Amino acid sequence: MKHTTVMTGASRGIGRVAAEQILCRSSDVHLLVVARASRGAQLAAELATGGRTVSHIPADLGSLNSVRQAATEIRDRLDRGALPPLRGFVGNAGIQYTNALTEGPDGLEATFTVNVLANHVFVRLLQDRFAAPARIIITVSDTHFGDFKHNMGMVPGPASKSPDVLARTGAFPKPGTTAAGRTAYSTSKLAAIYLVHEYARRLPTGIGVVAYNPGFVPGSGLARNADPVSRFAMRRIMPMTALTPFATSRNAAGRHLADVALGTTQAPTGSYVDRSRVARSSDESYDPQRENELWEAAERITTRPTPAPRADLSVAAAADHLSAYESTCRCAPTPRIEEGAAAPEASDEMDLRMPVMDGTEATRQYPTPLTIPRQHRPTTHPHQATTPHPRVATTARVVSRARADG
Ligand SMILES: NC(=O)c1ccc[n+]([C@@H]2O[C@H](COP(=O)([O-])OP(=O)(O)OC[C@H]3O[C@@H](n4cnc5c(N)ncnc54)[C@H](OP(=O)(O)O)[C@@H]3O)[C@@H](O)[C@H]2O)c1
Repeated sequence: MKHTTVMTGASRGIGRVAAEQILCRSSDVHLLVVARASRGAQLAAELATGGRTVSHIPADLGSLNSVRQAATEIRDRLDRGALPPLRGFVGNAGIQYTNALTEGPDGLEATFTVNVLANHVFVRLLQDRFAAPARIIITVSDTHFGDFKHNMGMVPGPASKSPDVLARTGAFPKPGTTAAGRTAYSTSKLAAIYLVHEYARRLPTGIGVVAYNPGFVPGSGLARNADPVSRFAMRRIMPMTALTPFATSRNAAGRHLADVALGTTQAPTGSYVDRSRVARSSDESYDPQRENELWEAAERITTRPTPAPRADLSVAAAADHLSAYESTCRCAPTPRIEEGAAAPEASDEMDLRMPVMDGTEATRQYPTPLTIPRQHRPTTHPHQATTPHPRVATTARVVSRARADG
């Protein structure tokens, strides 16, 4: 009987292979891909060859509002009978940044938002729409072990912090560094496993939930935010390691994910599937107290409505502010301003966050945002003394330190 599987992260990498495998191996599946607005329609069209049933819903998983809208739309389509019964959710999308300072429109750290909170919103909003037997799969990572054996020292191990700290930028030491970005990644994957354990306890009988670890998979887009040398190594050199037991090829990782989604790899609820078999995740990952703490925090954070943009934070005012900055750094930026991403209160500072990037090759990136409180407009560019910027592509975003979260 036809049924729906909702999937994130199907546009490329491991997920793309898995989506093709799922469709090719089960004619009963209606695959609903959740993808960025710019990619969804084309992705669905590419996957829907040979009579396969695929539809799409747009979402930026870095925005909780966007995720809520997508999940609500899925509920509506199910309720209207526009989709067959929901039997699966594959939360495969994931991201890794080169810093721990990337902030999304909710004012939350972006790695934690995409890798943990977005899945939580889908699980919670779809929970009562699943038709048993159903299965939820969350793609995690063996970087959560944090030891040399599991990632050859490439990614620092997870850090133990309260979920409310992890959800914010700057949660780790030297937050502007790649090491901090990778710590945010391994920590988010440990958090995802905690939630899988908690879901297994809390979800109704008949809805199984499994954490899936693909192993190290070079050649996917996961390193897309890394420096050019690392990107080159991941794309051109590391794929050769897929011939060794140390790494998994993209095709094998996608096939293993499809195996879990289709139930070919059988796994009890709450379990961790390491590539093709049920295994034990790290000792640290079994911690009912932290699991419950994370659940509570995820509930609190994701059910808080994103405040509406405030009318008086106009693009014009922001542009004005930006141009004052530009005249001091003597660069020729092309600003992109997102208005009122998180609504400020009257008493809040307005910050300009400006990742400055060398426009010629994008080789020099200053990942640490420059925070410029309203009352302290800068008089010198921090890099001006040593690094002239004849051509600088600057993106600026008006954000708020709004403590709408209380
Ligand atoms: N590669 C590895 O070594 C490895 C190891 C362990 C675990 N994993 C996990 O495996 C999963 C797949 O990763 P991959 O290696 O295949 O990386 P990838 O090629 O970069 O694929 C990531 C997927 O996530 C989607 N995504 C990321 N941020 C998104 C956002 N804000 N909104 C919507 N979609 C978003 C991407 O969509 P776009 O194409 O639109 O960006 C893409 O489909 C991730 O959860 C990753 O953490 C990977």
